[in-house]
Amino acid sequence: MTRHLLRDDDLTAAEQREVLELALAFRKDRQLRQPFAGPQGVAVLFDKPSTRTRVSFSVGIAELGGYPLVLDTGSSQMGRGESIADTAKVLGRQVSAIVWRTFGQERIEEMAEHAGVPVVNALTDSFHPCQILADLAAVADARGGVDALAGLTLAYVGDGANNMAHSYLLGCALAGMHVRIGAPADYMPNEGIVLDAKRIAAEQGGSITVTTDHDDAVAGADIIATDTWVSMGDEASASERTGQFDAYQVNSRTLEIAAPGAQVLHCLPAYRGKEITADVIDGPQSLVWLEAEYRLHAQKALLTWLVAQ
Ligand code: CP
Ligand code: NVA
Repeated sequence: MTRHLLRDDDLTAAEQREVLELALAFRKDRQLRQPFAGPQGVAVLFDKPSTRTRVSFSVGIAELGGYPLVLDTGSSQMGRGESIADTAKVLGRQVSAIVWRTFGQERIEEMAEHAGVPVVNALTDSFHPCQILADLAAVADARGGVDALAGLTLAYVGDGANNMAHSYLLGCALAGMHVRIGAPADYMPNEGIVLDAKRIAAEQGGSITVTTDHDDAVAGADIIATDTWVSMGDEASASERTGQFDAYQVNSRTLEIAAPGAQVLHCLPAYRGKEITADVIDGPQSLVWLEAEYRLHAQKALLTWLVAQ
């Protein structure tokens, strides 16, 4: 059966674990597997800007023996209105997988419905599951292995309604972690996603807490995470967001309240002095560069796993 990763819980907990183990193995040996030897093509499509996702999928697909066909959709016929379904049917006959960064979740669902090959969400307005696989793999690596994840507390503070918040909820719940979201009342996560995360957390031994209080969210947390206060596509609301998030900044006081030695995640790009201070992101508790490196290893693991199903 063709499998996709459109949202974090498209993998079961056991499957997520397999992918994470493989990600750690790929870091030790970048040539470990070559599932796209031939080379087979993999389409990597962008409706929004990207640095990390573009680089890590391009390099990763090449290291897997494949050919990364990277397209900005504005320069394709999609940019002139060709339908997602027609595009999916054409791509699916020529490439072994499709990776897409786009806007609405329904767009990538439609791509998956018609492609006939695995489709990977490289960020939508709702989720960023590849990033969470990288985050989990980086934390696991830094803490001695995938077994270290279950039972950890991750606190995400900032825009609780964005793709990263939603993916932390689902992805970290699958990993058996305790997830806390600290966000302003007007920027809370989607209620349906919170319910899904709570069900998964109950199955995996973790928990979900959503609060408007920064200190309640981060107190004693092992991992502190944040993200931009203005995501791609949210630019029109930038002025009404001003001042709403100041109390949720990750700074030295956040680290004083967190668990001793807490590690800090940020998917990047970061805005120093806004959602995170320079001393924290550039300081000794920051895991962000390993996290960014793990985009490569985690996505290679994911693609290897998907095409083997
Ligand atoms: N974190 C992340 O997805 O970065 P890019 O937007 O640069 O791809
Ligand atoms: N929430 C951010 C993540 C960027 C990688 C955005 O969607 O812009």
